[in-house]
Amino acid sequence: MKKINIGLIGLGTIGEGVYKILNSRRSEIKKSYGLELNIKSCCDISPNIAKKLKIKKEYFTNNYNDIVFSKDIDVVIELIGGLKISKDIAIKTLQNNKHFITANKALIAENGTELKKIAKKNNVKILYEASVGGGIPILNSIQDFISINKIKSFYGILNGTCNYILTLMSQGIEFNDALEKAQKSGFAEADPTLDINGMDTAHKVVVLANECFGYNAKIKDLHISGINNISKIDLEIAKNLNCKIKLIGIGKVVKNSIDLRIHLVMINHSNPLANVDNELNAVLIDSENLGKTMKYGFGAGMLPTATSVISDIVRIGNQKEHNFIEKKYKNLNISNLNRKFYIRLNLENKAGNLAKITSKFAKYKINIEKIFQNPENVNSKYVPVIIISKKSNYKVINNLLSQFDKLSITNKKSLLIPFEE
Ligand code: HSE
Repeated sequence: MKKINIGLIGLGTIGEGVYKILNSRRSEIKKSYGLELNIKSCCDISPNIAKKLKIKKEYFTNNYNDIVFSKDIDVVIELIGGLKISKDIAIKTLQNNKHFITANKALIAENGTELKKIAKKNNVKILYEASVGGGIPILNSIQDFISINKIKSFYGILNGTCNYILTLMSQGIEFNDALEKAQKSGFAEADPTLDINGMDTAHKVVVLANECFGYNAKIKDLHISGINNISKIDLEIAKNLNCKIKLIGIGKVVKNSIDLRIHLVMINHSNPLANVDNELNAVLIDSENLGKTMKYGFGAGMLPTATSVISDIVRIGNQKEHNFIEKKYKNLNISNLNRKFYIRLNLENKAGNLAKITSKFAKYKINIEKIFQNPENVNSKYVPVIIISKKSNYKVINNLLSQFDKLSITNKKSLLIPFEE
């Protein structure tokens, strides 16, 4: 029987889940994997949580150095989030020859390469299954087939908060009410700006690009936009177009280039991602031998995320090897994206304004497939005008929309969403 002594840092939602599952499933884990998992020490800034979980004094500390420097601990689990302290914990853990497990996507996206080097040098492992897709077993499963199966692309609904807000808005609920509900349900980040502006999805895209393509992407090189600019009307019109609007993290290899972007997309109902609603997450992977597979489930929450964390401990115990092979690609810029686009302008309801807009489309040779205005709003001063373009270039349309946004005939920033096949 192999014994693994664990130090658990951070007893928030996920930490509490890890503590509970490790205690309740101890004997099953022992039987199935031949592993005896002992929580040797827990750390949190708040002693109240120790009381709540009935952790004895001798197994609790408020100083993480007691854990990372302990001679008795084999695996350190960091579940505090953020960047600064978590990086310090990671480095000290690995340099002290302990394995490191985290659910912290920002830490891995920003510092993964450096931390992996330190882990390799010290002959220990760094695992982070819970950092992408919460409870969905995605990263370890990619590692299981990556050497036999070249991955061509991934498309992921990676942020539960955004997906939940988009779902509720499509049912007629206002943005702020939907966000409040997401916060109450506990899957929005402490600062939901990171969810809403696409940054949480971007961190997950960086981690996925690393696993799928061996590429060390930098956040600054990615096109990142969130759901800030969406209105209920866009979701209503999407329904009429037999589509849904989703915030998607995209990763695709195109010859020697890499296409990584995070933005809203218009997808047809027939696309499996269109049926991933509420706070659920999914990742659709297209690979050479396997074709398309989709993993779907809870991308956040106490017990799903804690399950992924514990699967990493089991993986360390069973010593499955995977060597990371780094690859280089050129970054593809979103400027080169050629798609059919959904465009929403808030246009002053006055004779000739539509002609001003469409004449510009003609000038820039953007072919219009459909154009309509929301019939409910025809008497307002400004009306949402929807234009569906034929396949066009992102940069050309985006430049044109920036020109419209500066004119007094529009009163809101326009919205541009590509249709994704
Ligand atoms: N805030 C994240 C989400 C939770 O809404 O998906 C896990 O990263």
